[in-house]
Amino acid sequence: MMGSSYSASSTGQTDILRFMLAGSVDDGKSTLIGRLLHDTGAVYEDHLDSLRRRAAQLGQAGPDLSLLTDGLRAEREQGITIDVAYRYFATPKRRFIVADAPGHEQYTRNMATAASTADVAVVLIDATRGVLTQSKRHAFIASLLGVPHQIVAVNKMDLVGYAEEVFERIRAEYLTFADRLECRHFTFVPVSALAGDNVVKPGVKMPWYSGPTLLSCLEQLDRGGLRDCLGLVDLRLPVQYVLRPSADFRGYAGTLASGIIRTGDEVLVLPGGRRTRVRRLIHDRRDVQYAFAPQAIAVCLEDEIDVGRGDMIVHPANLPWLAEELELIVVWMHEQPLRPGCEYLIKQTTNLVHARPSQIHYEIDPDTLRRRPAESLGLNAIGRMTCQLMRPLLCDEYSRNRQTGAVIFVDPIGNFTVGAGVIIDRSHRYRRPADEEPADLAPKSTPDRLGLRDRVGLDTPPQRLALLRQRACTIWLTGLSGAGKSTLASALEERLLAGGYSCVILDGDRLRSTLNRDLGFSPADRKENIRRTAGLARLFNEAGVTAIVALISPYREDRQLARQAIGCERFVEVYVDAPLDVCEARDPKGLYRRARAGDLPQFTGVSAPYEPPERPDVRIPTAEMPPDAALERLWAVLDKRGALLEHS
Ligand code: ADX
Repeated sequence: MMGSSYSASSTGQTDILRFMLAGSVDDGKSTLIGRLLHDTGAVYEDHLDSLRRRAAQLGQAGPDLSLLTDGLRAEREQGITIDVAYRYFATPKRRFIVADAPGHEQYTRNMATAASTADVAVVLIDATRGVLTQSKRHAFIASLLGVPHQIVAVNKMDLVGYAEEVFERIRAEYLTFADRLECRHFTFVPVSALAGDNVVKPGVKMPWYSGPTLLSCLEQLDRGGLRDCLGLVDLRLPVQYVLRPSADFRGYAGTLASGIIRTGDEVLVLPGGRRTRVRRLIHDRRDVQYAFAPQAIAVCLEDEIDVGRGDMIVHPANLPWLAEELELIVVWMHEQPLRPGCEYLIKQTTNLVHARPSQIHYEIDPDTLRRRPAESLGLNAIGRMTCQLMRPLLCDEYSRNRQTGAVIFVDPIGNFTVGAGVIIDRSHRYRRPADEEPADLAPKSTPDRLGLRDRVGLDTPPQRLALLRQRACTIWLTGLSGAGKSTLASALEERLLAGGYSCVILDGDRLRSTLNRDLGFSPADRKENIRRTAGLARLFNEAGVTAIVALISPYREDRQLARQAIGCERFVEVYVDAPLDVCEARDPKGLYRRARAGDLPQFTGVSAPYEPPERPDVRIPTAEMPPDAALERLWAVLDKRGALLEHS
């Protein structure tokens, strides 16, 4: 090490500040990091010597400090940084980890990675170029990912004659932009990374500036407060592995995403909801009394509970929610745009689930931070969307928990990262402000004709799951009158009850004599009949009860809306299929006869249409199989969809 008073090894400080550097290409990030490392003495003398020799060969006045940070040859060759590089240095006051976030547009991905753990973002602005879109985009991502402070370093002051007006103009421009950011703490420092002004040592050429140097800002920044507290609040232990080295040991290993866990603590295992206590905690091969995030630990519980990978151990007073649908702000990182309806994998803690974006609400313009309508999100675009999950996830809002509140989108075929997202409070369901966008620009989506999309309580809280200890679904039987829906519904109910599952039958005839007494058989009335029944099924499901719906539901569109209202991941469409002549021959209620005689108008199959499902989850041809075989076929499909009927 150089003989500076700042030496990485001479400090006993354990306080570590993580910061990231953000800025456009050519703003001088590498030089700034080089300057910080050099002036704090974190550079080996021989490394510096080689740079001096190189400079002499090229006839340069001094060593090029940007090369100090340049671990990657590609960067040297192309003049751009292409990966997140972490550097370490220390002063007597603090230790630092710098995440060098790349500036090139193409690499927002690495920038987001850097931001996910940073305490502060140093946004670098080239004084000769002003505040560029890319700097704004980075500042926005940093703010979105919860980085609580920003230090705006206005660099290359030497190239603008160290002029105060330039600095003030940039400060004003930045503050106007930053007004719409979540982040509220900004510090501005005029620097010249090349000449060394105000980076570590005060710059003598800017007498008008009496504030701290960049390093002093970093040393003084209060990183305690919020983030540390949050780290200690909610216990979240996503289970990564079940350890069974011998018959008498059963432990659950994982990395604490947040919070503290102690032996003796009462805990819940989610999503099952079983309550038990912590018997043993093991960290680093030793028994410990407590452990905290981000330690990797193994936990042994008092009771024999079936715990598996992806489950989560939490304190009972402080629960995440089980989401089947996520409301996200997404940063898209791939050339292939994100589109509603496409399938992706979502990674969150130890889970990987299939997911399908259902709607993009808007895109955020990085220049103005205003919203604009969008039907897809291209490379580097940032936008708000709703995403359906094929299997529910236990999650928190990102603002509460940076681990359980963050997701990564993965391409299901190539297995590479295509985007990152933060989970927004579930109560913040998006409603377009009336005055925000002209109506004709509004993104097109399926109209919410069932009026169910914005209902509260979309997710089943773990406490409810714990009560009935089952995952509820809706089994929707559609088919002509007399096709055998009610018979199959009763048989299924019996089988479910025998298996210990709680369920309810919602039958057209029965509902039409009570709740839906006011409805007839016009297309509009049938739609309303289905809307109400779907709403009921949803409520039952949310309470943990499986619903067996038996409705003719002759229109494809209405069934589709019911699927949406109930949630596609727990909706099973069963086509109870019998040819019209068979139904007519059965005619259990004598209705076909009356319809043919003209006594029953709009009778399905006779004087009103029936649109068979194009791709039902299962088709049961009741004319070709006896009732018990029909039930077996249906049961096999439910069994295959596994999670639907799982006892937890
Ligand atoms: S749906 O079309 O709105 O889904 P739903 O299943 O609730 O119909 O009710 C169908 C039942 O209502 C039939 O089983 C039959 O008993 C009775 N019904 C009376 N009139 C009609 C009609 N015009 N069309 C169909 N079903 C009718």
